[in-house]
Amino acid sequence: MPELVTLDREGPHAVLTLNRPDKLNALSYALIDELMARLDSIEADDTLRAVVLTGAGQRAFSAGADIAGFAPDLAASPEQALRRFVQRGQAMTRRIEAFGKPVIAAVNGLAFGGGCETVEACALAIAADHASFAKPEIRLGFPPPFGGTQRLPRHVGRKRALEMVLTGDAIDAPRAAALGLVNQVVDRSRLIDSALALAARITRHTPVAVACTLRAVTRGINLPIDEALQVEAAQFMVAAGSAQTHAATAAWLAR
Ligand code: COA
Repeated sequence: MPELVTLDREGPHAVLTLNRPDKLNALSYALIDELMARLDSIEADDTLRAVVLTGAGQRAFSAGADIAGFAPDLAASPEQALRRFVQRGQAMTRRIEAFGKPVIAAVNGLAFGGGCETVEACALAIAADHASFAKPEIRLGFPPPFGGTQRLPRHVGRKRALEMVLTGDAIDAPRAAALGLVNQVVDRSRLIDSALALAARITRHTPVAVACTLRAVTRGINLPIDEALQVEAAQFMVAAGSAQTHAATAAWLAR
């Protein structure tokens, strides 16, 4: 059996590739489970400091949840679909969103449905010039179920998100950048190099500073400001208790 998610090492950076190109990298249950296991192994490996997440082939980052895979659960009962399909997908996007090392989406083609929700969950995203983004779940008769009704409005605003989720229409990469769904658009030939270069600009900083900064933003963004400031203060305390932070401050003073 070919690996559904491959892991390549580029120095301190992991490149994870969704690997079902003949199915436009649709997110089968097995692929989601394999991606979660890959993230577990990267989390436990101190030599890996950031993750670039991309799709195999030229056409797709991911065409979303595997429709043939989840359809039997949807037909069986709402409870079964919730347990096997929705909770699995939400756990995946939440894991990516809350990951302690930056996950950078390198969007190498279409990112539809759960593919788009995966991009939304990533800390950062770079799109190839031919990438496109859509929320076509409404055509299947249900709202986006992997966090897409919640993260997209937080990223791009309610009306712009509602235009995407209610129409199901695709947007191109420049529009995605203008909306704030991706950080930048690059020529497709430079996609992975650009993502790795962005990763390197982050991993030059200490692991504890990167992890605390990620946690402060990701946990705080959904809280009222007073609680969010407590999250920020708690993450500062974690960093301030680290020898890495003391060394970084000392290095600045000694420059
Ligand atoms: N789930 C399962 N299989 C999918 C898939 C998905 N989300 N998206 C694409 N595929 C499969 C197709 O069944 C096809 O497989 P086959 O050759 O064995 O029949 C293969 O990937 C290529 O897709 P195809 O539809 O032939 O390509 P296309 O260029 O004509 O259309 C899309 C591309 C993305 C417009 C179309 O595949 C599509 O609408 N996919 C579903 C997108 C979606 O609704 N995602 C949200 C799911 S909740």
